[in-house]
Amino acid sequence: MKTGMLFSAMIIGGSLFLSAVSSMAGDDKGAESIVLKGGSMGSITFPHATHQGLFVDCRPCHDLFPKESLAIDNLKAEGKLQKKDVMNMCRKCHMDLAEKGQEAGPTSCKDCHKK
Ligand code: HEC
Ligand code: HEC
Ligand code: HEC
Repeated sequence: MKTGMLFSAMIIGGSLFLSAVSSMAGDDKGAESIVLKGGSMGSITFPHATHQGLFVDCRPCHDLFPKESLAIDNLKAEGKLQKKDVMNMCRKCHMDLAEKGQEAGPTSCKDCHKK
């Protein structure tokens, strides 16, 4: 049964094959907290699990980069993400929520970049 399912998913395409595997293994949520490199400004301690608790899906973050450790650094090194692209996405959500008077994350530099 399992082999049949995997096989048919494999025919349809690589990405479906991967999602079949990950849903069988139970979705990998990644680390609870992740330290992101912030260049000269110092690193950012990002509460991953808190954000997963707040939002029902994995966007907008994982529309920008895959669910892999060091994905951001690798894409920046390959020139597929510009410096601060991810940061601007993070900050925009925090600013939009703050503007609406809702609970939001930090918007000032030093509240995210804590060396
Ligand atoms: C608010 C942004 C955000 C959301 C929402 C989010 N993630 Fe992540 N995720 C990140 C960041 C940042 C990284 C680290 C990427 C890096 O190291 O470059 C990451 C990394 C990961 C990794 C790689 C392992 C690790 O811990 O580094 C997995 C797996 C993952 N996320 C799964 C998920 C899943 C599943 C969801 C949805 C339920 C989700 N994430 C929602 C930002 C987010
Ligand atoms: C919501 C959190 C957050 C805030 C607020 C924030 N940053 Fe960032 N910053 C990040 C993250 C995450 C990265 C790494 C990912 C990227 O480059 O997009 C980063 C990266 C950077 C980098 C390094 C880019 C590189 O690749 O060398 C610089 C410089 C920087 N930020 C400056 C600032 C300044 C200046 C401010 C205030 C105007 C600021 N940041 C506010 C989260 C934040
Ligand atoms: C879709 C909206 C959204 C996105 C995108 C988002 N955040 Fe947040 N963030 C929030 C909200 C809402 C909170 C407030 C949670 C709380 O305090 O309960 C928060 C809180 C935080 C906090 C403070 C946590 C604490 O314990 O005080 C940090 C740091 C943070 N976010 C960093 C980031 C970084 C870095 C990214 C991008 C990788 C990001 N956020 C992307 C909505 C977002």
